[in-house]
Amino acid sequence: MSHDAQDEALLAAARAARQRAFAPYSGFLVGAAVRAADGRVFTGCNVEVASYSLTCCAERVAVFKAVSEGATELVACAVVADMSPPASPCGACRQVLYDFGADMSLLLENVQGELRRLPLKLLLPDAFEPAQVLQAVKAHHGA
Ligand code: THU
Repeated sequence: MSHDAQDEALLAAARAARQRAFAPYSGFLVGAAVRAADGRVFTGCNVEVASYSLTCCAERVAVFKAVSEGATELVACAVVADMSPPASPCGACRQVLYDFGADMSLLLENVQGELRRLPLKLLLPDAFEPAQVLQAVKAHHGA
């Protein structure tokens, strides 16, 4: 599949996932789809719960689905919502995305079809680095 066709497929997956958003409290529907280095695609939608703060964003649902299926290296993430300019992942999701794809591309689209492409790194400069955490933990344990 060409690069553009791959991205279009990822956006289509995110659009479809948005239809499954469970957002009875906010009414704000979000769909996400991540593409793994091996080409597999995993989708997510926001899942709201009655105890509001336990809600999970669409992006994190997609990442955790991927990781739980063994896809720990992610190369792109599409997010679709009804917001202009297109919704950008929240801070918590940026870090989760970073852990599994520091170099990933983001494709942010709204229901009007506006599309913004940018590298995740642009949204999370000076990130908390998983490799440095591993190093620090090892040092503390004298390994
Ligand atoms: N939400 C996402 O799913 N992704 C984001 O990047 C921002 C916010 C969800 C959480 C909640 O269900 C609703 O949007 C309103 O904040």
